[in-house]
Amino acid sequence: MKAVSYRAYGGPEVLEYGDDLPRPKVGPDSVLVQVKAAAVNPVDWKAREGYLDGMIQPVFPVVPGWDVSGVVVGLGADTPEFQEGDEVIGYVREDFLSRGTFAEYVAAPVRTLAPKPAGLTFEEAAALPLAGLTALQSLRAVRAGEGDTVLIHGASGGVGSMAVQLARRLGARVIGTASERNHDYLRGLGAEPVTYGDGLAERVRALAPGGVDAVLDLVGGGAVATSPAVTAPGARLVSIADPAVTEFGGRVLWVRPDPADLTELSRLAEEGALKVEVAEVFPLERTADAHRRSAEGHTRGKIVVTV
Ligand SMILES: NC(=O)c1ccc[n+]([C@@H]2O[C@H](COP(=O)([O-])OP(=O)(O)OC[C@H]3O[C@@H](n4cnc5c(N)ncnc54)[C@H](OP(=O)(O)O)[C@@H]3O)[C@@H](O)[C@H]2O)c1
Repeated sequence: MKAVSYRAYGGPEVLEYGDDLPRPKVGPDSVLVQVKAAAVNPVDWKAREGYLDGMIQPVFPVVPGWDVSGVVVGLGADTPEFQEGDEVIGYVREDFLSRGTFAEYVAAPVRTLAPKPAGLTFEEAAALPLAGLTALQSLRAVRAGEGDTVLIHGASGGVGSMAVQLARRLGARVIGTASERNHDYLRGLGAEPVTYGDGLAERVRALAPGGVDAVLDLVGGGAVATSPAVTAPGARLVSIADPAVTEFGGRVLWVRPDPADLTELSRLAEEGALKVEVAEVFPLERTADAHRRSAEGHTRGKIVVTV
């Protein structure tokens, strides 16, 4: 099958495009998905560089990619959840790196899948799983709800753009950080934008003099260090990018595949209550360029690769 893969850790140049990898074998509780589109996440290039080595075992050659949209074309021994021909989305993350989604086919455990939202293109649908699940599970971790003011660091990225919309649906007020070029975009999602960098705490405090009730750090790089200056007593904190959040009483979250959560996200997207912004689309053979773009760190919404 056609696939992108790498045989050793390294920069984007280690990504090889070819048609000689075998179709993955399908385990008893997995289905074979013919990939239509795969979204890029920062974790794809971080894993390729070897930054996840202490946590996730690579089995080379590694096909990168955890996000997918596609069509079920083969069934495992016991997979009553799906039929051949079903259109699905998935966050196909296993505890090793090997059989990813930047390929013609991926074997996906049913616990990683949900129905594709009707009305979304395959490109939009592929952008939903990892970022959407991270946003949903992060908001749950801080118990965001009606009347809360939630500060979201990194509000215009893949995770942030979904977290803003989901937080608004929960009835929260959202203050979101981004560079000025993304402020109108954030307003459109329902957030009050603030510029990150020097003076951030003062700008947040000016909008929320009593402090915010919850913080989602979706960017790392020390953003959580502003927490004592911007939070109300008892505020809840979560970071997906900075272990230092624990110093401020917060939690580090690693997004989990969860079919119920993914089905909920799919339903919201289908109803138009959750919009997916696709910033750029690359063909599979240009996956290295897609990784380069993601690593620049300024994507609005998501980058997607079509197969
Ligand atoms: N732990 C987990 O389970 C988990 C899950 C998903 C993602 N992550 C990690 O979380 C991070 C975000 O993921 P993502 O997919 O949302 O990334 P992304 O889409 O690549 O994020 C890009 C966005 O970050 C914004 N940004 C850059 N520097 C910023 C800063 N200093 N302050 C505020 N915003 C800034 C950019 O806005 P401007 O262009 O306006 O600067 C851009 O819109 C990554 O480090 C990723 O690896 C972790």
